[in-house]
Amino acid sequence: MRSIEHIYVDGKFVMPDGNERLELFNPATEQKIGDVRLGNADDVNAAVAAAKQAFPAMASSSKAERIDMLRSLRDAISAQPDPLAQAMTEEYGAPAYFTAFSVQNTASIFDVMAETVAKYDFDRVAGKSMVNMLPRGVMAAITPWNSNFGFIATKLAHAIGSGSTLVIKPAEQSACQTDILVRRLHQAGLPAGILNVVNGTGPVVGAALTQHPDVATISFTGSTQAAKIIQRAAIDGMKRVILELGGKAPTIILPDADLDKAIPVALMSGFANSGQACVAGTRILAPRSRLSEISERLRTQTEKLKVGDGRDPEVQIGPLASLAQWERIQAYIRLGIEEGATLLTGGAGRPAGFEKGWFARPTIFADVRNDMRIAREEIFGPVLCLLAYDDEDEAVEIANDSDYGLQAYVLGSDLRHAERIAARLLVGRVVINSAPHDPRAPFGGFKQSGIGREIGTFGLDGMLEPRAVLTP
Ligand code: NAI
Ligand code: MG
Repeated sequence: MRSIEHIYVDGKFVMPDGNERLELFNPATEQKIGDVRLGNADDVNAAVAAAKQAFPAMASSSKAERIDMLRSLRDAISAQPDPLAQAMTEEYGAPAYFTAFSVQNTASIFDVMAETVAKYDFDRVAGKSMVNMLPRGVMAAITPWNSNFGFIATKLAHAIGSGSTLVIKPAEQSACQTDILVRRLHQAGLPAGILNVVNGTGPVVGAALTQHPDVATISFTGSTQAAKIIQRAAIDGMKRVILELGGKAPTIILPDADLDKAIPVALMSGFANSGQACVAGTRILAPRSRLSEISERLRTQTEKLKVGDGRDPEVQIGPLASLAQWERIQAYIRLGIEEGATLLTGGAGRPAGFEKGWFARPTIFADVRNDMRIAREEIFGPVLCLLAYDDEDEAVEIANDSDYGLQAYVLGSDLRHAERIAARLLVGRVVINSAPHDPRAPFGGFKQSGIGREIGTFGLDGMLEPRAVLTP
């Protein structure tokens, strides 16, 4: 059992003023593994004050100093990856392939930002004027539980790269992961006040942060629903917002696709991170001429996926992160049946052989229409929809007919043709065939998938304000 007692303010681990506690669980066993003492609005005030005080020095830091900080953070993570991965398995239930990726990616985020800073033009000329790209002040960040390390690293990397200081409120149910990560980040020896971390709930600590008059930028990753509350809170102070939200990514299987390759990619992108991914390919679009062949392969290959405790290295799908998530997924599976979709595989309840743990059955609905709620709303678990299209124009139309626009997948044998389909999709990222993760590509969405972009120069642009100086 671990009790997380401290928050991180002004370079020190301190006891928060808030004294409510939240229990923490292992989602694979449902066992309580510890608890966390939650902060309150006074803790937010202290953290923002520290960040505000540290801002002038950070804002005037050189490129070389920022690169040094980013490299020290990278080294602090990569020095000893295993305890981080273990915490992620225990508190979040992630399979080994995902914990390994996640920890390596966390280190790489700092590296990529160091590269970006090295090349970025902070001072430019426009017309006859000098333009300086300036940080605007304290950045407040709020992050979710489905990739805790990566999201915290992304927010911190953008703060440092831009010369801003940060107060972050990570997801409260990821407090063990946050604690081990922050203690590691502390070892990088950043000047006090650049990074501050306040544990707490959205309505208490999140709300206090987003309303704080000394916060200039809010960077949020999470649900579109919470983002709307946050954006309203930002209006009075005209705070800048960067929002990375939900998705309902289409996976277009083109008529010429080699199904031996396409089906595993479709399932991998749909069930990635046990389905708890904003980028998950949850709407599989299949040509009607090949529908029965595609359905059959999706069904048989899904039934071979290994569901279980992330401590088993062969597991491909872990538990849902919380009881609330498990219940949400069950409700969506029941909804799909009520809406008249056909269960191709899976269904409500736990998979056979499981009596404990927040495990859901990997589920695929067939005969789905794009106006059904299961095709429109982000489910955030291992539940996929299969939709048929007659021709490619219809495939593109269905793909774009969504409130979301974060990511899409295009699977086909002719790369040029797949690229032409990609060029018609209104999403922040299109992944063609088995293209690997690109840590340098901008990330963010169209429509209700968000505002702004993270990563690389696109990410830094959003964190900076241009100041032009006109001379006679
Ligand atoms: P959420 O969006 O409520 O939580 C994400 C973060 O926002 C957490 O740190 C939370 O404490 C904070 N938060 C919540 N309400 C807030 C408020 N009023 N002001 C400030 N901060 C606030 O997500 P939740 O409830 O955990 O998950 C519900 C659904 O949201 C999921 O099933 C999924 O569909 C979606 N979601 C999408 C994510 C993504 O990566 N796009 C991540 C997490 C959730
Ligand atoms: Mg919520």
